Amino acid sequence: TEDALVIFTPSGKRGRFAKGTPVLTAARQLGVDLDSVCGGRGICSKCQVSPGYGSFPKHGVTVADDALSEWNAVEARYDEKRGLKEGRRLGCQATIQGDVVIDVPRESQVHKQVVRKAATARSITMDPATRLFYVEVREPDMHEPSGDLQRLAEALKAEWGIEALDAPLDVLTRLQPALREGKWAVTVAVWKDHHAPRHVLIDVWPGYFEGRLYGLAIDLGSTTVAAHLCDLRNGEVVSSAGVMNPQIRFGEDLMSRVSYAMMNPGGDKEMTAAIRAAMGELAAELAADADIPARQIVEAVVVCNPVMHHLLLGIDPVELGQAPFALATSDAVHGMAAEIGLTTINPAAKSYILPCIAGHVGADCAAVALSEEPYKSEDLVLICDVGTNAEILLGDKTRVLACSSPTGPAFEGAQISSGQRAAPGAIERVEIDPATKEPRFKVIGSDLWSDEPGFDATVATTGVTGICGSGIIEAVAEMRIAGLVDPSGLIGSAEATGTQRCVPEGRTHAYVLYDGTAEGGPRISVTQGDIRAIQLAKSALYAGARLLMDALEVDKVDRVVLAGAFGAHISPKHAMVLGMIPDCALDRVTSAGNAAGTGARIALCDLSARGRIEEEVHRIHKVETAIEPRFQEHFVAANAIPHATAPFPELGQ
Ligand code: FES
Repeated sequence: TEDALVIFTPSGKRGRFAKGTPVLTAARQLGVDLDSVCGGRGICSKCQVSPGYGSFPKHGVTVADDALSEWNAVEARYDEKRGLKEGRRLGCQATIQGDVVIDVPRESQVHKQVVRKAATARSITMDPATRLFYVEVREPDMHEPSGDLQRLAEALKAEWGIEALDAPLDVLTRLQPALREGKWAVTVAVWKDHHAPRHVLIDVWPGYFEGRLYGLAIDLGSTTVAAHLCDLRNGEVVSSAGVMNPQIRFGEDLMSRVSYAMMNPGGDKEMTAAIRAAMGELAAELAADADIPARQIVEAVVVCNPVMHHLLLGIDPVELGQAPFALATSDAVHGMAAEIGLTTINPAAKSYILPCIAGHVGADCAAVALSEEPYKSEDLVLICDVGTNAEILLGDKTRVLACSSPTGPAFEGAQISSGQRAAPGAIERVEIDPATKEPRFKVIGSDLWSDEPGFDATVATTGVTGICGSGIIEAVAEMRIAGLVDPSGLIGSAEATGTQRCVPEGRTHAYVLYDGTAEGGPRISVTQGDIRAIQLAKSALYAGARLLMDALEVDKVDRVVLAGAFGAHISPKHAMVLGMIPDCALDRVTSAGNAAGTGARIALCDLSARGRIEEEVHRIHKVETAIEPRFQEHFVAANAIPHATAPFPELGQ
């Protein structure tokens, strides 16, 4: 038989094939990334391609109108039932009849690139651990007895190369009815281990299953738990939610929770039960929000600090409270999602917790590293993931160091007199006029500044409710710039500052940002206690960064990345005025948003990323802040605003 030249775009892969070869077959032989769930039976439509006709000088071919076969019955039936988009063909049905250029549209690529950050054009390559496969299974035969599962495994191996298949009991109980209802055709969700040739059956549906698979990316923080529900086909976030970590009632910060576990027999179990229950509720809420059956959530990736890690897994964190801070395990943890409280999703769903770097530097820091890739950086980058604990990474492609620093929850709006979580109603931006000392602010949920006409209407539903982490940072920095606060952090009196907004409060003063008491609302002020809490937090962050700089023997970093749930909102200028971060050109200070959450999402969508970060964490050098005397020195020196000893030439003051 004659053959024809086939060129696939965008990959550029080309080859010659006998006339009559289906496009999907040609694509598979050339290693072109063309999706298929039904194995070429014309059911799933995932194999859609767009053939090009006419002359392609770039490829040196002219494509005739009859380069692909006419529609066959399967394709026609599909078009009739579902409607194929103009110019589209089913790759498994259309056969090659002449030289042809075939484009694989993005949605037909399995390993599509998903842009996650427009500015940096960084992307995630889709390669989820759990995928759907449609198979036709041999019917049972009395004369050749074999189990339904064994014949399913045989079909999966023959058609999809899936070997070593395990089936948990929950799936096994669903298998026989599904096979019979589907007339020996089923769609299965299969999870793949990235270390060993091992597969696990996660679910089974009769016939061709139209639904999609979803996964959870969970950032389990000491103060808040944030989760994204992602579509495992395209990485899209279909719903997001956050809740307070219910363990707060056992202790505000990590060390108080570790001591709770030490002082109270069974205390660790109580905290484990609390967080697991919250995880289950959060997952159910996300599924309800996205209006999808929770059963279709088949995976969860969790990132967290070591204490949260141990408490989630039901491991007593007592060893993490004392030197040498030994982790029960530093490797990534594979398990069942149900074991860590995710009982509201698919009962066979898998969980994956990223590896920890060391006793104080957890899977959340590994996730930040996966997201920001300091180990690939050409210049020296300082990455600060700011939460109740700050995780700090410093390095470049030659070497990366990490530490954690106990900043306390002030940056998250906790322990602040009018503090609250970043939610509608919270003040998130503050400006204070240095001449009049009058403030203006922005509130989450409104695009207007408080002194702009129409502001009140935009916050009518929530009102102004409090101040969040980024708001308090800006407020304190602006108070310093406006001269309301001296370098030691002391708020001046009305006489000293010249504004009636500075009011006495006990033996100190407070600055009134907003007074809604006339309308029954709150009075939001920055108190001396608030400033002290922010000073402690920022000194801890700065001291951690300095310690890493000492270890690398550098005085200056090339760029700073601020991460954390509120990192997206911190203004670099205000962070530097406070002395939160070391001196650096302001335009080299960027925000990565919730980088730990992004890292979790990457690990959820891309199996190869899990292998990558498991390797990288071994190369990250850990610096222990708790036993390092210089940490204390840096901490004390960093207490002033911006700083007592280190120069900040980039601030120009
Ligand atoms: Fe499923 Fe073509 S591979 S329709």
